[in-house]
Parts: sequence; C-alpha cells; structure tokens
Amino acid sequence: MITIAMDGPVGAGKSTIADEVAKRLNILHLDTGAMYRAVGLAVNKAGVDMHDEAAVTALCEAGKAHVDVKYEDGAQKTFVNGEDVTPFIRTQEAGTAASCISRYAAVRRMLVARQREIAATQPMLMDGRDIGTVVLKDAPVKIYLTASAEARAQRRMKQLQEKGENPDFEEILREVNARDYQDMNREVDPLRCAEDAVVVDSSDINFEETVQAILRIVEEKHVG
Ligand code: DC
Repeated sequence: MITIAMDGPVGAGKSTIADEVAKRLNILHLDTGAMYRAVGLAVNKAGVDMHDEAAVTALCEAGKAHVDVKYEDGAQKTFVNGEDVTPFIRTQEAGTAASCISRYAAVRRMLVARQREIAATQPMLMDGRDIGTVVLKDAPVKIYLTASAEARAQRRMKQLQEKGENPDFEEILREVNARDYQDMNREVDPLRCAEDAVVVDSSDINFEETVQAILRIVEEKHVG
C-alpha cells in the first residue's frame, strides 16, 4: 500500500499538484486543509468565537465539529456534523476561520487522529502542513513542495488578474510572507520540511514538470 505525505507553504500549488499526482497513480488524495476549513465553518455556525480557544476546544471535545470525508468518482467531499460543506470550503470565511482554529491543540489532535484513520485503510496521497512531520511520520514517500515567495506571489497575481482584478504585487508578496511566518512559527505542529522529505522547488518549472518530478521521486522511493 502506497502512502505519500506532501507538505509545503501556501501558494506552492500543493492541492492541484497533489490531485494530479494521485490521479495518475490511481490513489485517493486527502486535502487536509479542507478538514481544517470544515471545522472553521462548524465553529462559525455554532456561534462560537473562533478566537476563544477554550470554547473551540469544548465544541470539539463535545463531538460537535465532527469531520468526515467521502469520495465520489475519486473527488473528495468534506462533511462536518453530517453536512456536505464542499461548496463552502474554498470561501474566504472558511480560510480565515481555518487559519485561526488550526493553531489549537485540541483541533489538531482531533483531525490528526481522523487523518490517520483514513490513511490506515487505503493507499493515499495526503497533503497539508504537518503530514510528513506529524500525521504520517512513517510514510515511505515524503515530498516538500515549495517555490520562492516571489514565484508564489506571481502565480497568485495571475489568478487574480484572470478573475478581472488588478492586484498589487508588493501587497500579495507581503501576504505570502505573512502566511509563511504564521504557518512556520505557530506553537503546535508548525510547517517544516521533514528530515527525510525530498524538496521539490517549482519556482522555475511548470505544472507538468512538477508532476513528473514528484512521480519520479515516488518511483525511486516506493519499494514494493
Ligand atoms: O491549505 P489550506 O489553505 O486549505 O489550509 C487551510 C488552513 O489550515 C491553513 O491556515 C493552514 C491550516 N492547515 C494546517 O494547519 N494543517 C494542515 N495539515 C492543513 C492545513
């Protein structure tokens, strides 16, 4: 059974790359960020202040932010308290709440346990911030997908321009650096490259080249 752990900073293209690599290997892709986003939505829906760690912890410990995932035609659907929240996962509201509640130990404990359960039953590529360092420490293949802050900001610029917006590069770069700082300096399970992870830097290579680089690493590392 093949298990692949993939981590990396915001904007490195992890989700789309992970999706494509998993498809080509015919395994499932678990986007763990979606699970943090789902908890964020449940916290808001319950009327709990996301900045109140004790209240968020109580909600989780009472089983009132129960996250589950199901797959339909290989695509992940994310549920919280039985409700399919997939359409709302990518909203700004979910992202902001996820960024806040992912700092809490109780939230991480609950989701890490669930992620391990899911990975125990099927071959899987899991992507997030703490997969190679915490969730799947024994994964035979670990990838750290990164790119320079400038390259990541440039991609974000392009996405926004394609949506008809007129973004300011310096401001986006500041946001990217701020998110990196937050992810890498939080107390519980900060983002870092696992010692045994292979670093893939996508700054100067395109989507297909990045996918190919990862497939080569999987092939080299995966024995049996
Ligand atoms: O990758 P994303 O933007 O969907 O992640 C949403 C938030 O959840 C982000 O602030 C980082 C956090 N996260 C985390 O702390 N650990 C993970 N394994 C995945 C995401």
